Amino acid sequence: MAGLTAAALLALLVTQAVSATPVRVRTPYEVKESHFVPRGWKKLDRAPENHVIDLQIGVKQGNFAALEKQLYEVSDPSHERYGQHLSAEDVRELVKPSDESLSLVHEWLDAHGIAPSAYSSAKDWIKVSLPVDAVERLLDTEYHTYEHADGTRVVRAPRWSLPRNLHGHIDTVQPTTSFFRARANKYDYIDAPVSVSSSYVAPSDETLCKVCNVSSVTPECFETLYGTKGYKVQAAGENQIAFANYLGEHPIRTDLEKFLAKYRPEGISQARDFEQLVLQGGPGDYPLTPGELARSTSKEANLDVQAIAGINWETPIVSYSTGGSPPFDPSKSTPVNTNEPYLDWVNFLLDLDSIPQVISTSYSDDEQTVPRAYAERVCAQFAAVGARGTSLLFASGDDGVGADGACVSNDGTNSTRFLAGFPPSCPYVTAVGATMEFEPEVVAYRPASAGHGAYTSGGGFSNYFPTPRYQRAEVAAYVEGLGDAKYDGLYNASGRAYPDVAAQGLYFAYFWNGTEGVISGTSASTPLLSGIVSLVNDARLAAGRPPLGWLNPWLYSEGYKGLSDVTSGSAHGCGVEGFPAVEGWDPVTGLGTPNFPALVKLAGGRFHGN
Ligand SMILES: *[C@@H]1O[C@H](CO)[C@@H](O)[C@H](O)[C@H]1NC(C)=O
Ligand SMILES: *[C@@H]1O[C@H](CO)[C@@H](O)[C@H](O)[C@H]1NC(C)=O
Ligand SMILES: *[C@@H]1O[C@H](CO)[C@@H](O)[C@H](O)[C@H]1NC(C)=O
Ligand SMILES: *[C@@H]1O[C@H](CO)[C@@H](O)[C@H](O)[C@H]1NC(C)=O
Repeated sequence: MAGLTAAALLALLVTQAVSATPVRVRTPYEVKESHFVPRGWKKLDRAPENHVIDLQIGVKQGNFAALEKQLYEVSDPSHERYGQHLSAEDVRELVKPSDESLSLVHEWLDAHGIAPSAYSSAKDWIKVSLPVDAVERLLDTEYHTYEHADGTRVVRAPRWSLPRNLHGHIDTVQPTTSFFRARANKYDYIDAPVSVSSSYVAPSDETLCKVCNVSSVTPECFETLYGTKGYKVQAAGENQIAFANYLGEHPIRTDLEKFLAKYRPEGISQARDFEQLVLQGGPGDYPLTPGELARSTSKEANLDVQAIAGINWETPIVSYSTGGSPPFDPSKSTPVNTNEPYLDWVNFLLDLDSIPQVISTSYSDDEQTVPRAYAERVCAQFAAVGARGTSLLFASGDDGVGADGACVSNDGTNSTRFLAGFPPSCPYVTAVGATMEFEPEVVAYRPASAGHGAYTSGGGFSNYFPTPRYQRAEVAAYVEGLGDAKYDGLYNASGRAYPDVAAQGLYFAYFWNGTEGVISGTSASTPLLSGIVSLVNDARLAAGRPPLGWLNPWLYSEGYKGLSDVTSGSAHGCGVEGFPAVEGWDPVTGLGTPNFPALVKLAGGRFHGN
């Protein structure tokens, strides 16, 4: 101790005194994040202190910039590394946190007597299971129960803190500020005849006219319209297509069987063969229970599996059902998972040695319900999946530029704004919009009518993610073309814009509870388009090439030549006509709908028999 000044000695003593308390804090706590509670949520009581939270701590990734650079290289058809996707190990090496970050986080948890219960494989996410009172001490916050207008309840803390020395080492901790809810983008299941719009003109093309019925579209119509008819799958042993389920949804085999028997009899074995994987206590493989029937469960999951199997019945299909969603009863002290199921799902994928080459997701929410830091980290996980060579497709939403009456900003000012959706606003996923009619295809739109809300293909601009370089020219041209500063101030012209592509999304023929009806939504377009992308991959694999992986750089530089531009209709919503579809890319139908033979050619795929 020789040489210590009195002041230094005093400081040391103070430090030791602090260390002697049970909670040793190296630096004072400071607020790390606060996020407005989105409209529609009401604050109820303090959360019960013994309610158990599965806390996810997002530790700063070591080198996301390098991962992103490599993602662009392996996804850019003009780059020499195109198609050379990364291994699970490569990705882990790039995103694993620094030793310093991990040791500081561990030291902090240790000081609270907390042991991590699980890690993601790269250790960039640490999970701890704790009762509310312990989490409140750890994050210097208070948790309350919040109730949504629709009855959904969650336990959240819209403002939380960390010791100052950890601010640069932890990006996000959830559940705290995120009010994100996976919403299924399906629109109205109708099991009665639907009326056809009086302006509808049947196709003049005889074949198309015969197979495409506007009030009940079938796989045969999609095959004819998009040109997959007659294509024979060649790489079923290597290729897989998957889809993700939340909210207790699980696909029902007997309904798929009825659907295939009627519309794709040669593919009927798929009803038995498709794989169902359950994560985090999600629902398994069983017929709908009376309670599930009463709640209309599995209308989305059935749509997803039927749309995929209808267009691509020979490629093996995998279904993921992730638990961790409402309903939640805060009066019960049993551990209830109120975490964010997307993160569990994507971290599960990244642990796999091999990930299905195409994955369709039909769930999303308003971007502003997700705090920015959390959206960025989930989007970074999607980038990692893309780097592994998987195409992630997400529905663009069913509310056009925003549901009428809901277009209010969540920044404390309540100003009128168009609403972007997440995950479609993440630049590393491919967002899928919806079309209807056939000659030509136009933007899917049903005005509100008795018993049914309005439905339009969703589209817009992110407030979190800047316009990525692959779409900069297209977005600039579109914004300029809007002219007269139309909708200025209602959207963010410097944001990532979506959707990227589109496909049919109105009145799909479909089975649920053993009965045929029709169902609509970008929830229909997304699995349909995913099925077609998977067929393009099949043709590439047959030619000895790797799968397409993250699609967007290819789509905007080459693939668009194999898409049919949609130029009529608009993304209605927020009480206005919304963004119009125009020639070229637009934030309603993206670059257009697929022309399969052209896509296969552009992608260097091989058709069977040649
Ligand atoms: C189109 O489908 C609807 C619903 O299934 C059916 O009622 C109608 O008869 C069909 N129209 C034609 C021309 O086949
Ligand atoms: C399900 O199907 C059964 C048998 O057709 C029917 O009795 C029941 O009402 C249906 N349930 C719902 C919720 O549609
Ligand atoms: C915004 O709207 C919310 C909910 O209606 C209200 O509680 C709040 O006071 C409003 N804020 C402003 C600045 O108008
Ligand atoms: C607009 O987007 C940019 C780029 O993502 C972002 O930095 C900015 O905060 C956004 N503006 C608003 C008002 O949200």
